[in-house]
Amino acid sequence: MCGIIGYIGNKEKKEVVLDGLRELEYRGYDSAGISILSNDVLSTFKTTGKLINLEVKCKDFKSSGFGVAIGHTRWATHGKATEINAHPHFGEVSSVVHNGIIENFLDIKKQLESREKVFLSQTDTEVIVHLFEENLSICSNHIKAFKKTIDSLIGSYAILLITKSAPDKIFYAKNGSPLLIGSNGDEIYFASSSTPLIGLVDRVCYLEDGDVGYMDISSFDNLKNIQPMSGEKISSQKEGYRYFMEKEIYEQHKILKDTIRGRILDDSINLELPADFIDGINKVSICACGTSYHAGLSAKYLFEREAKIKTDVFIASEFRYAEPIIEKDSLFIVVSQSGETADTLEALKLANKNGLKTLAICNVDSSSIVREAKYYLLTRAGVEKGVASTKAFSSQVMLLWMLGIYMAQHKKTISNEKIKIQVDNISNSLEATKVNSCIHDKLKKLSKRYLHGHGFFFIGRDIFYPLALEGALKLKEISYLHAEGYPGGEMKHGPIALADSELFCVSLMPKHLLYDKIKNNTQELSARDATICIIAQEYNEVADDVVFIDKFDSYMEEFFAMMIVLQILALEIAIRLGNDVDMPRNLAKSVTVE
Ligand code: AGP
Repeated sequence: MCGIIGYIGNKEKKEVVLDGLRELEYRGYDSAGISILSNDVLSTFKTTGKLINLEVKCKDFKSSGFGVAIGHTRWATHGKATEINAHPHFGEVSSVVHNGIIENFLDIKKQLESREKVFLSQTDTEVIVHLFEENLSICSNHIKAFKKTIDSLIGSYAILLITKSAPDKIFYAKNGSPLLIGSNGDEIYFASSSTPLIGLVDRVCYLEDGDVGYMDISSFDNLKNIQPMSGEKISSQKEGYRYFMEKEIYEQHKILKDTIRGRILDDSINLELPADFIDGINKVSICACGTSYHAGLSAKYLFEREAKIKTDVFIASEFRYAEPIIEKDSLFIVVSQSGETADTLEALKLANKNGLKTLAICNVDSSSIVREAKYYLLTRAGVEKGVASTKAFSSQVMLLWMLGIYMAQHKKTISNEKIKIQVDNISNSLEATKVNSCIHDKLKKLSKRYLHGHGFFFIGRDIFYPLALEGALKLKEISYLHAEGYPGGEMKHGPIALADSELFCVSLMPKHLLYDKIKNNTQELSARDATICIIAQEYNEVADDVVFIDKFDSYMEEFFAMMIVLQILALEIAIRLGNDVDMPRNLAKSVTVE
């Protein structure tokens, strides 16, 4: 989603800001822009589309000496993805970038228009710069004018503003959208996530909601909660793969080793949680969005089956406003790859406010969700660049599975022998995620037969139902074909009405869980002429196409092997359709607005 970069210092500001924006590119955007203020000249460049367009547009621009600069990648919310709507938005002497949504922008806009302010864009953001300039004409100083402006805004925001009348400063405000300030002693950097700052600064401050202020070159030390920041910039490369998504599918068996590293001791599960963590917990609520929600839904089956603990799973955007009944003996788990998803973060805040024990399952250390949760476990999947999540999902399911066994150990709901079997299954599941080149080749060929028709049903039962949902989501996200995931048993309650020779059905048929049941459900679709592609260990006459997985002894190993097939199937179909697999249309990697 939208990304912000800010800079105060002597370097070529255009390059610094463009470099920072490049680090945020994978998160998804549809336009971009920069404003540079140096030697009393404020220059702004904006374009639609990829950053390369912006680079071309400002290729002849140079700014020497000290100055301030802001940059933005925009994912359209209010107003189309046009050049005029791209950030920065400017007034007479100032320029602003903003992540989030200003909910009362129409009221402010009307008031400003009634006082003859002229708006160029359809965005909510533009009100900020005009309101600031109006306040500046009445207030005695800049910070008073900026604070007065921020006080008028309702909604979520991370804002950077620069103005010719205070040419050495960047004004900032944060509420609900992430914003960081970093320093290396000589320069100040701002960013909406830590990635662009790695290797450039040695100290960083994660701003809190409600923080409003300004930075000049010497004011960094006045900030609260400054933390050291180390690490070198590791630029992710595709390493010979066609897309980051493909690379991330292939590296799952490696990253899962990191997910489980140090967490299995003496044939039992050992997580970085206090010994009394499970005491007094009688229920679990899991809250997440998208793929992370599917991981949460998978965990429900594992928690209830192994730890005998009642588990409810909520889509985060549905949780917040539903007046949920908060039970004090619940463990509230949020699952998030990015750790910045606005709906999930707000649900977590609500649970914290109600005094629940909260736990984040997250991939990004120091993310907003990790910092907000009382406890956290990192999935250790490494940076995931493909917008369509793959390795984040497998690491989430793996960690949640381990958490289920951990709870079962503490609640003594399974025997030591069964724990040992599960631990063996975990190790074998790592193997199951190794991509078999024959299967990949098969899927490459098969994909050409699945490009038409009016849609796909992905069906599965039990924990293979959330996997079916995930398979359908992957296909939808990158191929733009219509796909739905269903529990197999649900077909005859309505969806089967769509079954005809133009419907594709991908059926997940694990040998070790409800095989006959899903076979019956698949037969019902086959009888109505749908084209059936089964993913299974063995041939089955219901199939038009079979994708064989290796022989496994447990349904969880089959789960991980089938997951790989679903990810590659989506990838190959999308490639055949000529789509940008890593940055699919309309999607953002990190959804920081509700
Ligand atoms: C996955 O392929 C998606 N792009 C999306 O559904 C994602 O899982 C969702 O937005 C939640 O993100 P999070 O895990 O970073 O919270």
